[in-house]
Amino acid sequence: MSISGRVGIIGFPVAHSLSPKIHNAALQSLGLDISYELWKTSEENLDQRIEMLRAPDILGANVTVPFKQKIIPFLDDLEGFAKEIGAVNTIIKRNGLLIGKNTDAEGFVIPLEKELNKLQLDFSQVRTLLIGAGGASRAIAFALAKAGIPNITIMNRTLESAKELAHSLSLFSAQINVDAYATISSLEGFNCIINATSIGMTGGPNPNEQPCDLSDISSPPLVVDIVYAPEETLFLKSARDLDFPRLGGIPMLIQQAALSFELWTGEKAPLNTMRSAIEDVV
Ligand code: ATR
Repeated sequence: MSISGRVGIIGFPVAHSLSPKIHNAALQSLGLDISYELWKTSEENLDQRIEMLRAPDILGANVTVPFKQKIIPFLDDLEGFAKEIGAVNTIIKRNGLLIGKNTDAEGFVIPLEKELNKLQLDFSQVRTLLIGAGGASRAIAFALAKAGIPNITIMNRTLESAKELAHSLSLFSAQINVDAYATISSLEGFNCIINATSIGMTGGPNPNEQPCDLSDISSPPLVVDIVYAPEETLFLKSARDLDFPRLGGIPMLIQQAALSFELWTGEKAPLNTMRSAIEDVV
């Protein structure tokens, strides 16, 4: 007998979320009797939302801003790197227990590995500049270190957060450096530069800016932007103008959704259907 029930996204605001489009298209295409709902939740109502998740027809949830960290004390257990990252984007139910996971990390690494392979690079050859030290950066930094990337420089406006993130990565063997925008001496030598800040995002605080200037780099790095709206940020446009290889935020968005989908349904996620579902939006 196939499973039926409900999943949804917990956050505030959530109306703009692309997850319902992505998941409902995938659920329908596989003929599953599961709906994906928007679960707008205020901070005061988070405990009620958790109670709702315990109802038998709820299969799991996604978690977004501002609850990725705040939801952790309400859950029964954490799995994978959710604990070390300190953020949960996916909840699954097992034997009635609410288990927090983080698919952002693996969702980032899978498309990254594909791009690196095209450039004939494997993880052991990558020297990364990771820009940002917020929630998204934390998941990415753990994913990079776990994948075996040996050298990661974290550059952040607030140096202290970069240091904290570097400290929490000390369980890995990667060499972690930290820097601030004002003190980094050169962007030369990195073969992968990742924007994990909100700079360049439509509706964000700095939509018309870039996290760094790529123009002085002589050896083309893979330029990665986790921002997916617009699909081509100014940062990616600069990379295109310089003919640098690029990876935008949509593959990561789709991949983290696919991993969550597979956890809830046990079915292989239809990646192309998921991507087509948001083609008219981004
Ligand atoms: P998210 O969960 O999306 O990562 P976050 O935790 O608020 O969001 O982190 C946002 C990141 O973008 C941080 O690294 C932030 O730098 P600070 O730690 O200095 O705040 C970075 N960021 C946002 N706007 C920025 C800007 N205009 N210039 C430089 N860095 C910026």
